[in-house]
Amino acid sequence: MKPSIYNCNVIELAKIHNRAGNITAVNAELDVPFDIQRVYYLYDVPSGETRGGHAHKELQQLIVAASGSFDVILDDGVNKKIVSLNRPNFGLYVTPLIWRELVNFSSGAVLLVLASMTYTENDYIREYSNYQQLINAV
Ligand code: TYD
Repeated sequence: MKPSIYNCNVIELAKIHNRAGNITAVNAELDVPFDIQRVYYLYDVPSGETRGGHAHKELQQLIVAASGSFDVILDDGVNKKIVSLNRPNFGLYVTPLIWRELVNFSSGAVLLVLASMTYTENDYIREYSNYQQLINAV
Protein backbone atom coordinates (compact mmCIF):
# COMPACT_ATOMS: atom_id res chain seq x y z
CA MET A 1 0.00 0.00 0.00
CA LYS A 2 1.29 3.46 -0.89
CA PRO A 3 2.23 5.63 2.09
CA SER A 4 -0.29 8.38 2.78
CA ILE A 5 -0.08 11.56 4.80
CA TYR A 6 -3.70 10.87 5.78
CA ASN A 7 -2.46 8.00 7.96
CA CYS A 8 -0.33 10.48 9.94
CA ASN A 9 -2.60 11.71 12.69
CA VAL A 10 -2.34 13.94 15.71
CA ILE A 11 -2.81 11.84 18.84
CA GLU A 12 -4.08 13.46 22.02
CA LEU A 13 -2.20 12.20 25.05
CA ALA A 14 -3.64 12.25 28.55
CA LYS A 15 -2.73 15.23 30.68
CA ILE A 16 -2.56 14.69 34.42
CA HIS A 17 -3.50 18.07 35.82
CA ASN A 18 -2.07 19.41 39.01
CA ARG A 19 -2.01 22.99 40.24
CA ALA A 20 1.75 22.53 40.62
CA GLY A 21 2.19 21.41 36.99
CA ASN A 22 1.03 18.79 34.50
CA ILE A 23 2.31 15.36 33.50
CA THR A 24 1.86 13.56 30.18
CA ALA A 25 2.95 9.93 29.89
CA VAL A 26 3.44 7.98 26.66
CA ASN A 27 3.10 4.23 27.07
CA ALA A 28 4.53 2.14 24.21
CA GLU A 29 1.83 0.29 22.24
CA LEU A 30 -0.93 1.77 24.44
CA ASP A 31 -0.63 5.46 23.61
CA VAL A 32 1.43 5.04 20.41
CA PRO A 33 1.00 2.17 17.94
CA PHE A 34 4.62 1.02 18.17
CA ASP A 35 7.23 -0.13 20.64
CA ILE A 36 9.48 2.81 21.59
CA GLN A 37 13.15 2.02 20.96
CA ARG A 38 14.60 5.53 21.01
CA VAL A 39 13.87 8.97 22.39
CA TYR A 40 15.61 12.06 21.08
CA TYR A 41 15.00 15.77 21.23
CA LEU A 42 15.91 18.70 19.08
CA TYR A 43 16.53 22.08 20.70
CA ASP A 44 18.43 25.36 20.28
CA VAL A 45 17.15 25.61 16.71
CA PRO A 46 18.12 29.05 15.37
CA SER A 47 15.29 31.27 14.18
CA GLY A 48 14.32 30.57 10.56
CA GLU A 49 16.15 27.24 10.43
CA THR A 50 14.63 24.18 8.71
CA ARG A 51 15.23 20.61 9.89
CA GLY A 52 14.17 17.24 8.55
CA GLY A 53 14.17 17.12 4.78
CA HIS A 54 14.14 13.34 4.57
CA ALA A 55 11.97 10.24 4.83
CA HIS A 56 12.48 6.94 6.62
CA LYS A 57 12.07 3.49 5.13
CA GLU A 58 10.72 1.79 8.26
CA LEU A 59 10.86 4.20 11.17
CA GLN A 60 7.65 5.22 12.91
CA GLN A 61 7.70 8.31 15.09
CA LEU A 62 5.62 10.36 17.45
CA ILE A 63 6.66 14.01 17.27
CA VAL A 64 5.75 16.22 20.22
CA ALA A 65 6.29 19.92 20.88
CA ALA A 66 7.53 19.39 24.44
CA SER A 67 8.03 23.15 24.60
CA GLY A 68 7.22 26.00 22.22
CA SER A 69 5.94 25.37 18.71
CA PHE A 70 6.89 24.39 15.16
CA ASP A 71 5.25 23.18 11.96
CA VAL A 72 5.71 19.76 10.35
CA ILE A 73 5.27 19.60 6.57
CA LEU A 74 4.28 16.07 5.54
CA ASP A 75 4.52 14.93 1.92
CA ASP A 76 3.69 11.49 0.48
CA GLY A 77 4.73 12.35 -3.07
CA VAL A 78 1.14 13.19 -4.04
CA ASN A 79 -0.32 15.27 -1.22
CA LYS A 80 1.14 17.62 1.36
CA LYS A 81 -0.16 18.88 4.68
CA ILE A 82 1.16 21.14 7.38
CA VAL A 83 0.63 20.20 11.02
CA SER A 84 1.29 22.81 13.69
CA LEU A 85 2.37 21.42 17.02
CA ASN A 86 2.27 23.65 20.08
CA ARG A 87 0.92 21.63 23.01
CA PRO A 88 2.94 19.03 24.98
CA ASN A 89 -0.02 16.63 25.22
CA PHE A 90 -0.47 16.29 21.46
CA GLY A 91 1.81 14.19 19.25
CA LEU A 92 1.99 13.70 15.51
CA TYR A 93 2.25 10.06 14.48
CA VAL A 94 4.40 9.75 11.34
CA THR A 95 4.29 6.47 9.43
CA PRO A 96 7.17 5.12 7.30
CA LEU A 97 7.95 6.56 3.84
CA ILE A 98 6.65 10.06 4.52
CA TRP A 99 8.84 12.99 3.54
CA ARG A 100 8.93 15.58 6.32
CA GLU A 101 10.29 19.05 6.94
CA LEU A 102 10.32 20.87 10.25
CA VAL A 103 9.90 24.64 10.07
CA ASN A 104 8.83 27.75 12.00
CA PHE A 105 10.47 26.85 15.30
CA SER A 106 9.59 29.25 18.07
CA SER A 107 12.34 30.50 20.31
CA GLY A 108 13.16 27.83 22.90
CA ALA A 109 11.17 25.10 21.13
CA VAL A 110 11.93 21.51 22.11
CA LEU A 111 10.94 18.85 19.56
CA LEU A 112 10.64 15.50 21.27
CA VAL A 113 10.62 12.33 19.16
CA LEU A 114 9.61 8.86 20.25
CA ALA A 115 10.87 6.44 17.65
CA SER A 116 10.27 2.77 16.81
CA MET A 117 13.93 1.99 16.02
CA THR A 118 17.36 2.96 17.21
CA TYR A 119 19.35 5.28 14.93
CA THR A 120 20.32 3.73 11.59
CA GLU A 121 21.54 5.95 8.78
CA ASN A 122 20.54 3.20 6.35
CA ASP A 123 16.88 3.85 7.20
CA TYR A 124 17.07 7.43 5.86
CA ILE A 125 16.11 8.58 2.36
CA ARG A 126 17.80 11.95 2.07
CA GLU A 127 17.31 12.78 -1.64
CA TYR A 128 13.82 13.75 -2.73
CA SER A 129 14.38 12.20 -6.19
CA ASN A 130 15.27 8.88 -4.51
CA TYR A 131 12.15 9.22 -2.37
CA GLN A 132 9.94 9.70 -5.44
CA GLN A 133 11.49 6.69 -7.17
CA LEU A 134 10.98 4.55 -4.11
CA ILE A 135 7.31 5.40 -3.54
CA ASN A 136 6.53 5.03 -7.24
CA ALA A 137 7.79 1.47 -6.94
CA VAL A 138 5.60 0.67 -3.88
P1 TYD B 1 18.86 14.16 11.24
O1 TYD B 1 17.88 13.09 11.62
O2 TYD B 1 19.23 14.25 9.79
O3 TYD B 1 18.33 15.58 11.73
P2 TYD B 1 17.00 16.43 11.40
O4 TYD B 1 16.02 15.54 10.73
O5 TYD B 1 16.55 16.90 12.72
O6 TYD B 1 17.41 17.57 10.55
O7 TYD B 1 20.17 13.98 12.12
C1 TYD B 1 21.19 14.94 12.14
C2 TYD B 1 22.49 14.25 12.53
O8 TYD B 1 22.39 13.68 13.83
C3 TYD B 1 22.88 13.12 11.58
O9 TYD B 1 24.28 13.22 11.32
C4 TYD B 1 22.62 11.87 12.35
C5 TYD B 1 22.70 12.30 13.80
N1 TYD B 1 21.73 11.56 14.63
C6 TYD B 1 22.18 10.54 15.44
O10 TYD B 1 23.40 10.23 15.51
N2 TYD B 1 21.28 9.86 16.21
C7 TYD B 1 19.94 10.14 16.17
O11 TYD B 1 19.13 9.48 16.88
C8 TYD B 1 19.49 11.19 15.30
C9 TYD B 1 18.04 11.55 15.21
C10 TYD B 1 20.43 11.87 14.56
